[in-house]
Amino acid sequence: MYKTHTHCRACDSTDLIPVFDLGLQPLANSFKLISEEQDGYAPLLVLFCQKCTLAQLSVTVRPDLLYSYYRYVTSTSQTMRQHFDWLSALLQSEKGSILEIGSNDGLFLDYLKDIGFRVVGCDPAANLCNIASKRGHICVPAVFNSQSSMKCLEASHGERFDAIAARHVFCHVDDWMDFFRGLGAVSHRETLICIEVPYVADMMDRLEFDSIYHEHTSYLTINAMRVLLNRTPFHLHRVIRSDIHGGSLVILIRHNDSIHPRCSIDIKENITRQQWELFDDQCRAKIQRLRRMVHDLIVEGKTITGYGASAKCTVWCNACKFTQKELKFVTDTTGYKQGRKVPGTDIPIVDEIEFSEERPDFAVMFAWNYQQEIMAKESKFLGNGGKFIVPIGEIWVKG
Ligand code: TYD
Repeated sequence: MYKTHTHCRACDSTDLIPVFDLGLQPLANSFKLISEEQDGYAPLLVLFCQKCTLAQLSVTVRPDLLYSYYRYVTSTSQTMRQHFDWLSALLQSEKGSILEIGSNDGLFLDYLKDIGFRVVGCDPAANLCNIASKRGHICVPAVFNSQSSMKCLEASHGERFDAIAARHVFCHVDDWMDFFRGLGAVSHRETLICIEVPYVADMMDRLEFDSIYHEHTSYLTINAMRVLLNRTPFHLHRVIRSDIHGGSLVILIRHNDSIHPRCSIDIKENITRQQWELFDDQCRAKIQRLRRMVHDLIVEGKTITGYGASAKCTVWCNACKFTQKELKFVTDTTGYKQGRKVPGTDIPIVDEIEFSEERPDFAVMFAWNYQQEIMAKESKFLGNGGKFIVPIGEIWVKG
């Protein structure tokens, strides 16, 4: 089901030390029907590379188990649409053709097409490629690597792409050198490559341990990216911070022989083993705090549910060992998560109507990355005295 990871993905060092361990955990997006048994538990242990500061999981789960039928669909939330507007505007100057790696259901391809790009998508989830095709996009159903890059080229009739976008996919990739070989094959000298990743410094500052799950095999620093690029024919062109998904980096990369000047990168980062140890202590305390808070409320006779069956929800519920006794259900707008259960638990996932009918006293907001949007949307719940428990940074009670 998984293979053990021994060499740093960025610098190849074997000096990897364990810094954060959640034990055996279910795959965060493996939503089973209520009657089905949960399968597929794997260790969730973060190793830190002392040489280049990259953090990475101790195991890599087989990609076909994670992605061949993927239930994660790009959010159509207001927050995400604003981000797509911003990101497509950033890429617009490149013109011509664009390849999106990890194109999911094709939503971002719509944006890119709308601003005039000829688009091709590439995604390992056949179900999502079908949706993208129905939207009118050419989509290569494959994990992007040096081999499948040839199929991407065929899809563009042999023409190398003027831009390449890879949103929240790079940290899912096991073999980064091969990924860059693939990028080399589909790009020309002036291609702009845009890689968006969750930023480990934000994750650590905000104690977002719930972003750690098997799909995220690496927790990238700018330093590790620079070290990695030194082993390829590419360089860092520009790095921009974004607030999306709890804090992300938008990393722009160009060929070493591009005529575009390099921009200076003024983000100071200082990720150390000591900081990881502090993160470990603080996250353990945070898990205990939520557990205690929920248990105390249950003793007081309050009803509690979860809001948003995100992968983060799976990590939280398993770390806190929540069952249906603590969280009556988790509500989620995604059709095919409904009627299933939070992986590793017996907590059912239900639609929004059930949430408004149940009127719980408290709801733990597991989709905290859409906090503002959810607070605005649930004004009735809040107006009726309902409260959100928001586990971001500290644990906040809002309402
Ligand atoms: P998301 O944070 O996008 O991803 P991840 O799984 O990587 O943590 O997941 C958010 C989930 O929350 C998604 O399943 C949709 C759901 N959701 C709602 O149920 N209601 C909402 O109003 C919003 C914004 C999201």
